[in-house]
Amino acid sequence: MTFEVGNRLIAALDVDDRAKADALAATLGDAASFVKIGLELFCATGPAIVRDYASARRRVMLDLKLHDIPETVARATAQVDALGAELLTVHASGGRAMLEAAARAAKRTRILAVTVLTSLGDADLDAIGVRDRAAAQVVRLATLARDAGCAGVVASPHEARAIRDALGAGFLIVTPGVRPAGADAGDQKRVTTPKMARDAGADLVVVGRPIRDAHDPAAAARAIASELA
Ligand code: C5P
Repeated sequence: MTFEVGNRLIAALDVDDRAKADALAATLGDAASFVKIGLELFCATGPAIVRDYASARRRVMLDLKLHDIPETVARATAQVDALGAELLTVHASGGRAMLEAAARAAKRTRILAVTVLTSLGDADLDAIGVRDRAAAQVVRLATLARDAGCAGVVASPHEARAIRDALGAGFLIVTPGVRPAGADAGDQKRVTTPKMARDAGADLVVVGRPIRDAHDPAAAARAIASELA
């Protein structure tokens, strides 16, 4: 089954209630191929929003970053699959059996493995016993995820090139931490422009605040998508 990346843009619906999410999604229309529902919105609204959006043919990335024993992740993944989310995130560091369990449980949903959180620096990695630096750890976890049957990874645009070089084409690379030139970086420390992410090998990019907080979110999304084309 081939995967259509559309205009390569995933707009994060980082809002705290259903009405705001629906308003933002309606404003965006088809300016972004996917919407991302993250923990905040999912906890605020429950799973119905995923079912409703999928029923309305809106493509959903459900960013739950699951990390538990294989049985539990498999059962949660089956529920997400039934809701109709097209993409679901799990943590690659949950290990091979967990990743395989998620991939097996997902019939239509594709599993994206989160490699190393971009909020973790070298000192944080040391503290959790990871001796490699982020770049090496990201490639290790991406390889594990590919071998376990995941469709792709979530990683920093700075690591996209190394992943693509190691794993080749056909494995999805989804990158947050993207800012149009001149936009406020917010708390994202190492940002790239949409074009830089694309050139580094990203298939899809996640953008939140620069769209959500724009005077005209649809125009902001279209401008980013045109950089990704
Ligand atoms: O507002 P901004 O564009 O920074 O939003 C990025 C989105 O991507 C947020 O929903 C954030 O949770 C998510 N994300 C991230 N960095 C990661 C993984 C996910 O910024 N490593």
